[in-house]
Amino acid sequence: MRGYFGIGVEGISKEANVGNLVRSSHAFGASFFFAIAPDVDIEAMRVSDTSDAFDHVPYYQYESVAAMDLPKECTLVGIEFTEESIELPSFRHPTRAAYVLGPEMGSLSPELMERCDHIVKIPMKFCINVGVAGALVMYDRQLSHGGIGGRFAQRPVRAGGPTEDLQAHKHGHRRKIKSKGSS
Ligand SMILES: C[S@@+](CC[C@H](N)C(=O)[O-])C[C@H]1O[C@@H](n2cnc3c(N)ncnc32)[C@H](O)[C@@H]1O
Repeated sequence: MRGYFGIGVEGISKEANVGNLVRSSHAFGASFFFAIAPDVDIEAMRVSDTSDAFDHVPYYQYESVAAMDLPKECTLVGIEFTEESIELPSFRHPTRAAYVLGPEMGSLSPELMERCDHIVKIPMKFCINVGVAGALVMYDRQLSHGGIGGRFAQRPVRAGGPTEDLQAHKHGHRRKIKSKGSS
């Protein structure tokens, strides 16, 4: 898996959706999970989390968009169904990314959209459940950046499983760093 990613939610209000999303995040190998102004007591949920995801994925909670504090050089990607959003199949995932999804009854706030480096949508007829949307984004990232087990063999031209083994990764040549005074 190249790089890292985190998953976040803004104003989430249903425990089941938080549980679903944090579980998928854990399964896809997320490095962290965060919530901005959640409308559900996530701290209380952690006690009853049967998948133990919160024991394995670091959790951050922010009172507001302004208080959100992401790792340095981490690209913030908003997941929202708008006219202008980039379509997910055409989106190049950043190596270091935090994906943030909106509340069940609304959309990402204008303030948060303003902070996002990109806004991406899953092309479909209408909005779907926030947990499902998050899982689709993570699956799409896995296709391009590899999964927790590493890279995947190429798809064959015909229907069916891979016909060729995974090619060994080729490392680039070492660059010689010229010392001062050498020519
Ligand atoms: C259920 S949707 C919100 C409801 C929606 N605003 C509506 O009233 O039709 C909750 C969140 O899921 C995410 N979402 C759902 N479907 C999506 C899609 N097709 N593309 C991008 N994000 C989606 C977004 O983050 C959204 O804010």
